[in-house]
Amino acid sequence: MALRTIRTYGDELLRKKSKVVDKIDDRILTLIEDMKETMYHANGVGLAAPQVGILKRVVVIDVGDGPISLINPEIIETSGSYIDEEGCLSIPGKEGAVERPKYVTVKALNENGEEVIIKGEDLLARAFCHEIDHLNGVLFVDKIIEGDE
Ligand code: NI
Repeated sequence: MALRTIRTYGDELLRKKSKVVDKIDDRILTLIEDMKETMYHANGVGLAAPQVGILKRVVVIDVGDGPISLINPEIIETSGSYIDEEGCLSIPGKEGAVERPKYVTVKALNENGEEVIIKGEDLLARAFCHEIDHLNGVLFVDKIIEGDE
């Protein structure tokens, strides 16, 4: 495993759309392990592959219940909404209030290529949305509620 460098705000790569993973090979598995290590090292709760310079649809999340790795994640259902402060490892020192769904169901592939469906509530739901936004070149600062800049 190795730490990877986290790209920061202003890096054009963070604004690009990531590509679907069509084969879960050793490169993808190494990427996931490195992303977990990088996320923990930076005390983050989530990290998306474009944040380490790789435009692939891969995210890792740990909101305190153990690591979750998602390959080609898609949001299939949401409900409710709430507003909370959000931050991002690519935008150090910045926080802002963002409205997100309270419940989010995600479909993805795990590291074995099996389809998984995971339901998230509150912080986990928020992390799903935030990290999947990264795969589409969207950053939380695009969504900060007016007046909380
Ligand atoms: Ni982020």
